[in-house]
Amino acid sequence: DEDKLYRYNGVLYPRTFRPEETFKALQNIEAREDDVMLVAYPKCGFNWTAGVLRKIIAEATGMKIESKMPQLIELYGPDVVKVLDETPSPRLLGTHLLPDNIPKSFNAKKTKTLVIFRNPKDTLVSSYYFYDKLPLHPSVQSWESFYSNFLSGDIVWGSYFDHALAWEKRMDDPNVMIVTYEELKQDLSEGVRQISTFFGFSLTEAQVQQIAEGSTFSAMKEKYANMVTGNNLFRKGEVGDWKNHFTPEQSQEMDDAFNKHLAGTRLGDKLNY
Ligand code: PPS
Repeated sequence: DEDKLYRYNGVLYPRTFRPEETFKALQNIEAREDDVMLVAYPKCGFNWTAGVLRKIIAEATGMKIESKMPQLIELYGPDVVKVLDETPSPRLLGTHLLPDNIPKSFNAKKTKTLVIFRNPKDTLVSSYYFYDKLPLHPSVQSWESFYSNFLSGDIVWGSYFDHALAWEKRMDDPNVMIVTYEELKQDLSEGVRQISTFFGFSLTEAQVQQIAEGSTFSAMKEKYANMVTGNNLFRKGEVGDWKNHFTPEQSQEMDDAFNKHLAGTRLGDKLNY
């Protein structure tokens, strides 16, 4: 079962992604200025913001993007360049990669990049349920072992804290916008407004409200019910479910790790949980 994972430059990936070939192929992607890039550490809200972006693009440009998009650029395999070259603009692209592993072309073109983060405790709980049912991932042995692996960063796509710290350093990049799951939960309309403004798509207030209403957890879960049955992709969609899973000791240990890495940083302050 452990053979399902492969360590590349210190980070674990599902072995089927063939990280060596894939990373080479990714370097040949030619970014476009009007690409819409979405980045998330796994289980931080990728599918949620992807749904929001598809709706924003559809409303603002009339272009319909398939609901299975965006695929992660690291999952296309060696054909990635060909497939993306043939995709019309604006391309909606996604990745779970660390910022330094995102093809340099995106930085050079100043492609606008939306990054979604979520507090580490709920991210861990969401991963715990999802990875157990994911064929690409070894089955989860126990809450305790999964918890320790997450905390130590021994988990697919790498350490939560490495990702958070790397993006924290880029918060001032004009082409980077960071939103949190918690902020979107609190005020989804405001999130839709800010995201569309950042990407330069103009929407009426009625369109903003319509997108927000279509992007609630229950609306999205219902819409994708057929596509994703049984895989926990739309599991609970709440802030604070960690309280039903963490022991007081684990909660304290995670708080200590969080404070050690992120206390006093702007990203840390946004991840209120
Ligand atoms: S993945 O596999 O890494 O792409 O997973 P990802 O989409 O990033 O995260 C899945 C969690 O996001 C929740 N989700 C939502 N929450 C609120 N509102 C909406 N619309 C929404 N859509 C998805 C989903 O339920 C997963 O969280 P948990 O806590 O497991 O329910």
